Amino acid sequence: MNINELLNIKYPILQGGMAHIATGEFAATLSNAGALGTIGSGGMSPQRLKREIEICQSLTDRPFAVNLMMLRPDIREIIDIVLESGVKIVTAGAGSPGPFMKELEEAGILVFPVISSPIQAKKLSKYKLGGIIAEGMEAGGHIGEMTTMVLVPQAKEATDLPLISGGGIASGKQMLAAEILGAQGVQIGTAFLLTEECPIHEEYKKSLLKATASKVTTVGNINGLPMRILKNNMAREYKKLEKEESNIETLETFTVGRLREAVVNGDVINGSVMTGYTVGQLDRILPVKDFIEQILGEYEEAKKCLLK
Ligand SMILES: Cc1cc2nc3c(=O)[nH]c(=O)nc-3n(C[C@H](O)[C@H](O)[C@H](O)COP(=O)(O)O)c2cc1C
Repeated sequence: MNINELLNIKYPILQGGMAHIATGEFAATLSNAGALGTIGSGGMSPQRLKREIEICQSLTDRPFAVNLMMLRPDIREIIDIVLESGVKIVTAGAGSPGPFMKELEEAGILVFPVISSPIQAKKLSKYKLGGIIAEGMEAGGHIGEMTTMVLVPQAKEATDLPLISGGGIASGKQMLAAEILGAQGVQIGTAFLLTEECPIHEEYKKSLLKATASKVTTVGNINGLPMRILKNNMAREYKKLEKEESNIETLETFTVGRLREAVVNGDVINGSVMTGYTVGQLDRILPVKDFIEQILGEYEEAKKCLLK
């Protein structure tokens, strides 16, 4: 079965769940445009998640997903809300969905864990999953070590499950490349930040529009929580702390609330402006629908060229 049939979507494009950004309204916009919208539960209280799911359900009758952060301390409550609200698809990052697989499966929920190495794909294949999202380190936000180019084919070898490729995809050529590497669909985060409907502060969008790929960096290597963000005061300070070999607690405390500062208050100097490398190829803000039409048009063009 292809991914469109499995997820009941028109186009094989998943919107990445993005903490503090991917609201119910934004997810509904994506789903109404034919992709799979995703509510990012990261940074939401269980009550807020419940409200955002209700908002999404009131704005679309198309399928949508909820992104779960498996290691959060109140994950039990979050899972209960997902089960009670009739959510049908979840993506699962920051930890394994293993402990909850039985009940999610019994509720008929399709689970798509996000993985960053082939071994994770292999280990998770023992569960009855909807599929696997292999996310390369070109992506924005928290990242692994492998690039999409090497991760996707190795993940494909490691599992027979439907495979989605994320990280570094914002054009039709990149979408086609993902397919050639073995993916049945793509997950996109960064490019959706630069859409009219994306509910991030205007300053966040402006700083992404201005940025080239050389303005993108990684912090958090030392405490095992690497993340891709724009170079700014926050990134500089963080790297300084890393060089001073500050303890993990100091580093973790330093980042608390920084993404929210950038997303909600528009502090792009001291906030965490998460973005992937595709920011270097994005130079305008489009309505979601137009971006989707654009990437699909480019994909068809690229495919024609390949077949010539
Ligand atoms: C600002 C931002 C926040 C993100 N937050 C999350 C998150 O909360 N949970 C998650 O699983 N992935 C998160 N991601 C990763 C996306 O879901 C997606 O996999 C990734 O952005 C795809 O790569 P791209 O940025 O190159 O398009 C985030 C990405 C960005 C850019």
